[in-house]
Amino acid sequence: MNFFKFFKQELAIDLGTANTLIMVDDVVVVDEPSIVAIDRRTGQTIAVGHRAMQMHEKTHENIKTVRPLKDGVIADFQAAEAMIQGMIKMVGRRNSFFSHLKMVICIPSGITEVEKRAVFDSADHVDSKETYLIHEPMAAALGIGLNIEEPIGNMIIDIGGGTTEIAVIALSGIVCDQSIRIAGDELTNDIMGYMKREHNILIGERTSEQIKIHVGSALHELENPPEDYAVNGRDLMTGIPKQIKINYQEVAYALDKSISKIEDAILKALEMTPPELASDIYKTGLYLTGGGALLRGLDKRLESKTKLTVRVPEEPLKAVVRGTGMALKHSDKFSFLIDRKSV
Ligand SMILES: Nc1ncnc2c1ncn2[C@@H]1O[C@H](COP(=O)(O)OP(=O)(O)O)[C@@H](O)[C@H]1O
Ligand SMILES: [Mg+2]
Repeated sequence: MNFFKFFKQELAIDLGTANTLIMVDDVVVVDEPSIVAIDRRTGQTIAVGHRAMQMHEKTHENIKTVRPLKDGVIADFQAAEAMIQGMIKMVGRRNSFFSHLKMVICIPSGITEVEKRAVFDSADHVDSKETYLIHEPMAAALGIGLNIEEPIGNMIIDIGGGTTEIAVIALSGIVCDQSIRIAGDELTNDIMGYMKREHNILIGERTSEQIKIHVGSALHELENPPEDYAVNGRDLMTGIPKQIKINYQEVAYALDKSISKIEDAILKALEMTPPELASDIYKTGLYLTGGGALLRGLDKRLESKTKLTVRVPEEPLKAVVRGTGMALKHSDKFSFLIDRKSV
């Protein structure tokens, strides 16, 4: 082991609206939902990540659970900072007196200058000595192994919790990008609404997300259909808990409108792409990252809509943190990293 490494700690952080991941030395050491539970009376953090998620929608008046990032922006600064601190604690911090902390944090591309400053401040509060930010599409592209420095255009579509980010990248920069607030959370809402309308059953956000993961589909006909899924909720007529089975075709129906909106945004982004880059994209195809890339049939559906090849990397949920990790290693070389002075 390098002697100086002992005095240095380097973290790559993917600060997502749904999940926060931290990578240290090429290993993902934290992978937690972006949520924090706070004691309303004292303002103290009770739990972050999975433990806070277990409390979500089950709290009494003294506890609140907060998802600090919403729709790709920081909705609650204090909660965001509490969450970042809690997640960094999970890594196990070396003695801050001896070690030099360096971080690269990936931020949703929609965040404002004020929000960027808030992220830098949070980094200062955990004693980071060197902090950089990176825009999400750049990190995603690096994470799936694209050579972003080449004069070749690539289109990345990252479907996260709050936003779908569509970006064309070439020569280490974002040439054009589009962000819409239709992504995983919206799909989850669609399912909640559908269950209420069609089955008279009330379900929570987490149950709805489980339906999406277990029997979610972008297509009405799948080659390998998942088994029907049993859902527990409250019957709106009787007020009593009950269970029903739901199949993927129903979910495909529930998600159809939102997916069409994502398709429209992709078509618009393609229309806005300069012709030379469009011709590259015709050859390279589209890359899908983020949790939304895992939705059954989405790649096929987008292929038939755009007539382009659609590629999904092996672990789309980890593409961004991997790319952030690469940026951390090459922070001296990558001019697209944002440092404190530039905001
Ligand atoms: N198998 C799956 N099918 C459909 N959606 C999924 C699946 N797994 C995760 N998701 C969704 O992906 C979203 C989280 O993706 P992620 O890329 O971590 O978002 P963010 O970067 O905004 O934190 C959530 O809305 C989650 O419900
Ligand atoms: Mg993300």
